[in-house]
Amino acid sequence: MKNEIDNIYNQAISVIEKITNGEALEALRVEYMGRKQGKLTLLMKNIPDLSIAEKREIGPLINKVKNALTIAFDKKEKTLGQITNSENSFFDITLPGEKFNIGTLHPITQVRLQVEKIFQKMGFEILNPNEIDDDYHVFTSLNLPPQHPARDMWDTFWTENDLIPITHTSSMQNRAMKEKTPPFGVIVPGRCFRHEATDAHHEHTFYQVEGLYIGENINLSHLIGTILTFLQEYFQKELRYKIQPSYFPFVEPGLEFLVSCVMCDGKGEKDKIPCSTCGHSGWLELIPCGLTHPKVIEMAGLDPKKYSGFAWGMGLDRLVMLKYGIEDIRHFHAGDLRFLKQF
Ligand code: DAH
Repeated sequence: MKNEIDNIYNQAISVIEKITNGEALEALRVEYMGRKQGKLTLLMKNIPDLSIAEKREIGPLINKVKNALTIAFDKKEKTLGQITNSENSFFDITLPGEKFNIGTLHPITQVRLQVEKIFQKMGFEILNPNEIDDDYHVFTSLNLPPQHPARDMWDTFWTENDLIPITHTSSMQNRAMKEKTPPFGVIVPGRCFRHEATDAHHEHTFYQVEGLYIGENINLSHLIGTILTFLQEYFQKELRYKIQPSYFPFVEPGLEFLVSCVMCDGKGEKDKIPCSTCGHSGWLELIPCGLTHPKVIEMAGLDPKKYSGFAWGMGLDRLVMLKYGIEDIRHFHAGDLRFLKQF
């Protein structure tokens, strides 16, 4: 019986080696190890007839062979599996590829880059504001001392240690004047924060581009020329303009710069329908500005008798909304891909 067992083992191992497909391997497994008619199984059925001494020898031997064959079958099955897989892994290079979602720059970023480019061409340098700044830079150095009633014009957030998430990017005026030698021009694109109840035109977080030019004998024509050049370049349109008085403590005179409405070309209506962008007036109040107040120049350590300048602060969100006809400022931060994918 020992010989028979050895033969069965040797036979099985040599056939297993030659097998090339899963079906044949399974048939072989049944032939040797099948529960009813397997060659090994049949031998085991003889065990009860053996003497005790034979049982002690044969029992463990059959078990050993059974385990060895199980391992051999399993191993072969694995290698066959790998061969079949690699045979099946035909790669069709004509199949369309998987699509990746590539993000785009946010419309505000796109417009900021455009605006920066236009002003850089005019010789302006870009300054980045501190998003959190102190009272001196946000208010006092701009001719807005503590308790000045005009501070009410800004709905300011304050931190517990009296710092300010900047309400406007004018916060860089004083630093620019201290750091640069006139004549110089800077723009300050940056994110601002106000304690606002939000609606279609107001957000607690929004963007401004401040501008400041300091030199000698600067007058309103420099200011008007700069702003008009920028707006015509940005909207790629001839625009009419007008200025009207306004008030900001850091400029004197303070002005509002208006241009003919870019939606209705200043007509106040389009296809007989009143233009909602300009409220039927044909004019857009676009950019608050003015000539830099002598006190602001003085506080930055420059002589206001020698130096003069102009400044403006425009809303970047508004520029984006006007260019693309966006009706609600809240789209910008809603994170809705249907909105963002249009740009
Ligand atoms: N800082 C002002 C604001 O946020 C805007 C502004 C007005 C800036 C007039 C200026 C300016 O530089 O001259 O409301």
